[in-house]
Amino acid sequence: MEKTNGKLDITRQYAFAEEIARLRLNKKYCIVTMGCQMNVRDSETLCGWLSLMGFTEVKAREDADIIIYNTCCVRENAENKALGNVIWLKELKKDKPDLIIGVCGCMMQEKGLAEELKRKYPFIDLVFGTHNAANFPEYLSRVLLGGERVFEVWDSQGSVTEGQPALRSCRFSAFVNIMYGCNNFCTYCIVPYVRGRERSRKPEDILDECAKLKDAGVKEITLLGQNVNSYMGGGSAFAELLKRVDKLGIERVRFMTSHPKDITDELISCFGSLKHLCPQLHLPMQAGDDEVLKRMNRRYTIDAYMDKVRRVREVCPEIGLTTDIIAGFPGETRAQFEGTLRAVEQARFDSAYTFIYSPREGTAAAKYPDPVSIQEKTEWLEELIALQLGITADMLKRQTGKTFPVLVESMSLRSESTVGGKTPRGLMVNFPGGRDLIGRIVDVRITGAGKNTLKGELEE
Ligand code: 5AD
Ligand code: SF4
Repeated sequence: MEKTNGKLDITRQYAFAEEIARLRLNKKYCIVTMGCQMNVRDSETLCGWLSLMGFTEVKAREDADIIIYNTCCVRENAENKALGNVIWLKELKKDKPDLIIGVCGCMMQEKGLAEELKRKYPFIDLVFGTHNAANFPEYLSRVLLGGERVFEVWDSQGSVTEGQPALRSCRFSAFVNIMYGCNNFCTYCIVPYVRGRERSRKPEDILDECAKLKDAGVKEITLLGQNVNSYMGGGSAFAELLKRVDKLGIERVRFMTSHPKDITDELISCFGSLKHLCPQLHLPMQAGDDEVLKRMNRRYTIDAYMDKVRRVREVCPEIGLTTDIIAGFPGETRAQFEGTLRAVEQARFDSAYTFIYSPREGTAAAKYPDPVSIQEKTEWLEELIALQLGITADMLKRQTGKTFPVLVESMSLRSESTVGGKTPRGLMVNFPGGRDLIGRIVDVRITGAGKNTLKGELEE
């Protein structure tokens, strides 16, 4: 298996894709995406390549000639789910020997994993990592045309690769990467190991992509980075980029994720001054105790965090704050966890993504003593979830009677005559309406609240 890094040459990759297209193989493909928005965006690039090859997307794995799993490894259960799914494909391949099975994404960057998959699972045809995903056409051509099994993962990243195609999964809302990787090394987190160090795209490339999306009718863009505040090395670069994106006139602009230690006053003031920036901020708190935060290597105190929250709300009282929280970090005591509960009470988030700590091999915290049992951590998590549910319910109730512009996203799963979409603040609203509303921004009056979503009706 090749360990050394090769070259990324996009022109060559287009040549591979065109060569495959000329053969008119008419394959159907299915990409299964796990994990975060970064992976969603990466899958859109793979779809872009596959569509250039003349292949069509299908939703069910059973209908596909090529199945690719884009994996996540941020927590152990994500990893187990990915592995379980891939192993299940073995059965599918028994009935369909020509089926091509590929696995890519963050999990493939873990040390030794690709070799293990190659050895243990002969039905896997293709494995590549996050650092060499731009070589996908070449790898697929070696599998399709050369009958090879291709297992290639590069240890280190290249620079940013521009010019890849994309087939977006949504025609009115789009993710735009502004940077890749992370330099923060929070002690629990595997992301810096599997996504590499920070690399920023040039403002011109980002603005160009956003402008094209606007011309294509996109109404909402979300700028993506592991830590957007350190775009181009930090300072005011991200706020400046955001101001330029705002001027393009796309109706809704969002971004994620912001590291609390790096969010600047200049960025916070954007919530008061930029016309298209939505009042929504995802600001991962992780824990509510200074000692735990220190051992997480988060580099802020809980007071400093609350101070940022206060400043954001001063500028934008209607902001929808969301957060990530880990319960049961190694060595966290009950008293320290109660600090998290108090912080949640105080911050009054719209919602929180909550996780039980999951040890990730190779990260610093995986070696910390961890005496609290998983049962106890589960109870802590449930307590945290219950607390946040109450706060969410209160906040939702207070929206009744107000009218918001809602970007309609989809039909409701439960009813053929109900649609769902988001308010600027990011709250989900369901209301009676037809398919023709999807992709439009309409005024909706809030009539009531459920557990996690709002109910409303179209305002005439
Ligand atoms: N265990 C539990 N949660 C984790 N996260 C990242 N790494 C871990 C881990 N090892 C959570 C953090 C992060 C979110 C994306 O996932 O809260 O913000
Ligand atoms: Fe992981 Fe911390 Fe980087 Fe976020 S900032 S990706 S939690 S290391």
